[in-house]
Amino acid sequence: MPKYAKNQGAGFTNAIERVAIVGAGGTVGSHIAKALLETGRHTVTALSRKDSGNRLPEGVLVTSIDYNDEATIVAALKGQQFLIITMAPTAPRDTHSKIVQAAAKAGIPYVMPNGYGGDIDNIKLGEDTMLGPIAKANRDEIESLGMQWITMCCGFWYDYSLAGGDARFGFDFDKRSLTIYDDGNTKNSTSTLSQVGRTVAKVLSLNELPENENDESLTLSTFLNKGVYIKSHVVSQNDMFESVKRVTGTTNAAWTVTYIDSKKRYEDGLAQVKVGNMAGFGKMLYARAFYPGDCYDHSAKVQNALLELPDEILDESTKAGLDLVKELQLRVERMAA
Ligand SMILES: NC(=O)c1ccc[n+]([C@@H]2O[C@H](COP(=O)([O-])OP(=O)(O)OC[C@H]3O[C@@H](n4cnc5c(N)ncnc54)[C@H](OP(=O)(O)O)[C@@H]3O)[C@@H](O)[C@H]2O)c1
Repeated sequence: MPKYAKNQGAGFTNAIERVAIVGAGGTVGSHIAKALLETGRHTVTALSRKDSGNRLPEGVLVTSIDYNDEATIVAALKGQQFLIITMAPTAPRDTHSKIVQAAAKAGIPYVMPNGYGGDIDNIKLGEDTMLGPIAKANRDEIESLGMQWITMCCGFWYDYSLAGGDARFGFDFDKRSLTIYDDGNTKNSTSTLSQVGRTVAKVLSLNELPENENDESLTLSTFLNKGVYIKSHVVSQNDMFESVKRVTGTTNAAWTVTYIDSKKRYEDGLAQVKVGNMAGFGKMLYARAFYPGDCYDHSAKVQNALLELPDEILDESTKAGLDLVKELQLRVERMAA
């Protein structure tokens, strides 16, 4: 049965005002938290480990939690309307479940689970990269506990993946080297971190429900138990290389370019992961997404126009990537995963 604002009880505001976020100081969480605050419509509360050294964006309220003490998570989530989880891939596997179970106990209705990756309907790619079944299990758990989810399908983060070293988009800016999959012409759907933040803020600033049967406006409820599909740039490595050369003022002569077979790189990465060497994970994940004819491109499904997202300029996004290089190099454990 569709729910309408007119049928809700007294005190229903039809707006998401109180948002809790796990990872508000993290790679994507910091962009989401900032974008939410910029709307002026939300209070943003970070659930942060008590010994966390992460810096949080200004204006974010902080609650300390202990993943081994569920009561602390439930207490932090009481009264919140929407929970966003941006959890480090290096966190223990059961951490997501601990948060979701506490959210159900706290009465949270909506959760954005960890994910921030590809098309959730591309089952084969999800299985090949191992991420699909994990994300599906996270969504299923949310539903099984009586809550609803909205997940972000943004593809690779352009700026992060450009800056993140050879195992990602192939660039090593210190060595001025580039590893190109196959002929470098396979395109991928990518989104900048700021586009992801902006999108979450847009969706959470919509009315929660339609006013009545005649209200056809876009609401948060439109996206429940679905993916939100966005993009910034649909680009090949050759497109990226041209942009990098423009932004850095370099020519081919300054770069050492190596061409490798994406399928071989995928198999090598997978073999490393199978023996517990997580350095192979990024190699496996990115090489798989660049398979010619079977790559990661969800541009036919994107909802940029529906959400009135701005067009972004590739070279500006490349500059944002270059600004991230040093910061990511300092996050040794995180970047090795
Ligand atoms: N599309 C892409 O290109 C792409 C790239 C990378 C990741 N992702 C996805 O996005 C998700 C978030 O990645 P991210 O880079 O934003 O995460 P992140 O910055 O590495 O970490 C986010 C937060 O996780 C918490 N955390 C760190 N270690 C933890 C631990 N051992 N136990 C519990 N919590 C811990 C920290 O919060 P506190 O310190 O405040 O507790 C941290 O701020 C990933 O898991 C992955 O699903 C997508």
